[in-house]
Amino acid sequence: MSKIFIDACFGKETPYTPVWMMRQAGRYLAEYMKVRAEAGSFLDLCHDPKRAAQVTLQPLDIVGVDAAILFSDILVVPDEMGMDLSFVGGEGPKFSDPIRTQADLDRLIGGEEVADKLTYVYEAIRILREQLDARGDEKALIGFTGAPWTLATYMIEGEGSKTYAISKKMLYANPTLLHSILAKVTEVVKYYLEKQIQAGVDAVQIFDSWASAIEPSRYDEFSWKYMVEIAEYIKSKYPHIPVILFPKGVTAFIERGLVYGNFDVFGVDWGTPMALAKAKLGERYVLQGNMEPFRLYSVEATTACVEALQNIMEGKRHIFNLGHGILPDVPVENAKHFVRECQRVSKIDI
Ligand code: CP3
Repeated sequence: MSKIFIDACFGKETPYTPVWMMRQAGRYLAEYMKVRAEAGSFLDLCHDPKRAAQVTLQPLDIVGVDAAILFSDILVVPDEMGMDLSFVGGEGPKFSDPIRTQADLDRLIGGEEVADKLTYVYEAIRILREQLDARGDEKALIGFTGAPWTLATYMIEGEGSKTYAISKKMLYANPTLLHSILAKVTEVVKYYLEKQIQAGVDAVQIFDSWASAIEPSRYDEFSWKYMVEIAEYIKSKYPHIPVILFPKGVTAFIERGLVYGNFDVFGVDWGTPMALAKAKLGERYVLQGNMEPFRLYSVEATTACVEALQNIMEGKRHIFNLGHGILPDVPVENAKHFVRECQRVSKIDI
């Protein structure tokens, strides 16, 4: 059975333009908060395949999106490499022993051994595969990983950062060490995505959420080429699985025509005009995005943006999404409105 989201990833014509939202399984849903409380904590929920599968499906049933994204977190990868991940109430993620030297890096395990430890993720995928197939509603399941650079910033800083100062110092003062970190993470992530595919995901997305921290002339060397290497590995072995790359804050990189690589969908962030992305990338890649997430606080602003995006993309080689993750206090009704509007404006009457 062909899935509308997968067809759209390959640029095929679909009855309407599919839509999903980054970070769609999360705190704006009361149903999510309930399951998270039952699990204990956010990390407990990530480690609980049955409940992770349950919250993955919530946005399909409640908001009506066309694809589910596996509920997990990008930071389970460094956690399983041997870094001790915790989420401190309200402050976000923390690693107790950040990576600052080659010796720190050598302490971490790498390769397939790490991917093999993420069994709870594959178990959640197997449960979801079974449930989605039983529903027969053609909704796709997206697996994901963080990009090596974005993961490295957390591993180096030890927590979320506004300036990425330690990582950026390393980029210029000790690029060899940074490349060693990036190469080690890349190796793990290749196996991790492969095992997600073997467990049953229909597509994979790589999140480079902190791409904008690197100046455009250095972005290829320290991030993009590693994402392309991962994409190439997946496409060479699993050509039927769409690969989506989402680098956030890279307008200048797009403008200068520096985007290359074997992948299917380019995720456009909210700061990049869709018309620019279309002109530069639209023939080579299907474009995903890119409504500014704060528009979700106004139904009028949402409708205006959806219509504008439809005018630019004309229902071709496009997947509706936000230009970054949904915020935790968005009214659910507004999220539903966004999804309905995307499907309404792009519907082909046959
Ligand atoms: O998209 C989805 O719905 C699937 C689940 C998902 C989560 N995190 C769940 C989550 C995905 C795809 C992610 C990816 C992720 N995690 C990224 C890349 C995407 C992006 O938004 O840029 C990043 C940078 C992280 C790291 C991370 N995880 C941070 C910085 C935080 C704390 C900030 C925050 O939003 O609270 C998290 C926690 C997190 N990951 C939550 C969820 C639902 C909130 C935890 C909670 O329930 O309290």
